[in-house]
Amino acid sequence: MLVKMFSKLNCQVRIYTCFLTVLLFGCQQQLQPNLQQQRSKQGMAVSAHPLASDAGLAMLQQGGNAVDAAAATALAISVVEPFSAGIGGGGFLLLRRAQTGTVQALDFRERAPKRATRDMYLDKQGKVRPRASLDGHLAAGIPGTVAGLYTVHREYGKLPWAAVVAPAIALAENGFPVSSRFVTAARQRQDAIQKNPAARQVFTRAGILYQPGELLVQRDLAQTLRKIAADPQSFYTGDIARSIAADMAKNGGIMTLEDLKNYTPIWRNPVCGNFRSYQICAMSPPSSGGVHLLQILNMLGDTDLKRLGRQSADTVHLLAESMRVAYADRAQYLGDPDFISVPVKALTGHNYAKLRRSQIQMSKAKPSNQVKAVDAKTLSRFVWESPETTHLTVVDKERNVVSLTFTVNGGFGAGAVAAGTGILLNNEMDDFVAAPGVPNLFGLVGGDANSIAPGKTPLSSMTPIIVTENGKFRLAAGAPGGSTIITTVLQIVLNVLVYDMNVGEAVSAPRIHHQWIPDRLQVERGGFDTATLDELRRRGHKIQEREDWGNANAIVLRSDGWLEGAADRRGEGATRSY
Ligand code: GLY
Repeated sequence: MLVKMFSKLNCQVRIYTCFLTVLLFGCQQQLQPNLQQQRSKQGMAVSAHPLASDAGLAMLQQGGNAVDAAAATALAISVVEPFSAGIGGGGFLLLRRAQTGTVQALDFRERAPKRATRDMYLDKQGKVRPRASLDGHLAAGIPGTVAGLYTVHREYGKLPWAAVVAPAIALAENGFPVSSRFVTAARQRQDAIQKNPAARQVFTRAGILYQPGELLVQRDLAQTLRKIAADPQSFYTGDIARSIAADMAKNGGIMTLEDLKNYTPIWRNPVCGNFRSYQICAMSPPSSGGVHLLQILNMLGDTDLKRLGRQSADTVHLLAESMRVAYADRAQYLGDPDFISVPVKALTGHNYAKLRRSQIQMSKAKPSNQVKAVDAKTLSRFVWESPETTHLTVVDKERNVVSLTFTVNGGFGAGAVAAGTGILLNNEMDDFVAAPGVPNLFGLVGGDANSIAPGKTPLSSMTPIIVTENGKFRLAAGAPGGSTIITTVLQIVLNVLVYDMNVGEAVSAPRIHHQWIPDRLQVERGGFDTATLDELRRRGHKIQEREDWGNANAIVLRSDGWLEGAADRRGEGATRSY
């Protein structure tokens, strides 16, 4: 009830602020004062939920480092935000160790089970079976979260593993008040939740959805987390694995004990590139995030974006046209690098960006049906050149940095829980291409590069980043939002590095998004003035105004040595520091 009242009040304050601002400047100038921004000289953790950020902070205060804090935060998110990410899903982590100054990337994304086939979601006529890759056990990839968090913790954590898992166990055992985001997500997925008896048992009270503020206790999950605290491998070879495999067999899933046993996270080189005086490192394939973030930044090059104005029609047009090109290339070339050759160096090269930039007309939007990925032969000319999800960001007092995005894919993943474990299964298989040209949950299309194969990893857009300047940490950020993740992170980068915004403003500022197909320029409602939108329409953009998206967060290190962190005004997250 209280939460409901607060969101109503918050909404009224926003409307009132906007009304006043319209009178003075026009609504597009409005920036919400970000109550979740904090400063500190020691360490901080920012995530999509205050209780998860608390878990991270507790690790830092117990003498743990950024890795301990990130693992504790991620495990707590699995309990309090199961609809966005969890131990039944997977993700990517970027780690910058202060000692070495290098950025490492860990891929703990879900993989396709051994019995997965290219056509597994098609009917006899070759048509995609509606929702087959989204609902139920067949939609789930092999989860990587536990293996990923344990791997990075074993190598770089300071506190005992059991201490890192403890806050999540307490949250599952004692319960927590569900948030309005939780309730909204549950309402959207209630059909699937009600259909699966185990999900219904965990996420409803005898079939009635929880209300904001009600306590959700997850006893099975607490028990599962206790087993993981004692032995993380139990998720893959022990009791937990056996329960998952049995539940799969009973419910038409294809994941087996062998699949779980064979799961391994993979250390990969991140994609890194220079943008002005900064070095930007981001997740490499099987995420498309880093490649296309760098590609778009390269296309913007040294354009004087400040002079053009942050929300001017020229800037929005240039961003949108660059995004359109990048997403066309994504559909053609991006996939799991262990299965196909991804032309990372070519796509992130400056000369390639120059070619693509030269094809953009400032006076006119190019319809998406006239924008294609370049053919492989043309792209090969550039190879020589040197090269519903959640995010959390942690920086410790030594300035070790973790930027971690993980997910169960759609809200409440597959809408199914592995009976007796409390583990919500992901529906990450939908990130593969079920059939060429058929859009996935996020409207993304693709072809062979991202087709289904046993053991293959579905293509992601998750874009955790770490930015340095002159060898010193400067910014870490990331966001949820499926296909919009890349463009959300791009705009935070520009807001901090080009437009000199503080971190709260950078995360709060209105966003745009273009992903080639569908051919429309999405803008946050109320974020851009009418004259700008009219001018963009005149240039040929099909504008779609949408409610806010992308519950991002970020931490920057200011030149005076203060860390500044912010959670997004669009969500319910929090920055915690000491
Ligand atoms: N499941 C969304 C993504 O990985 O991009």
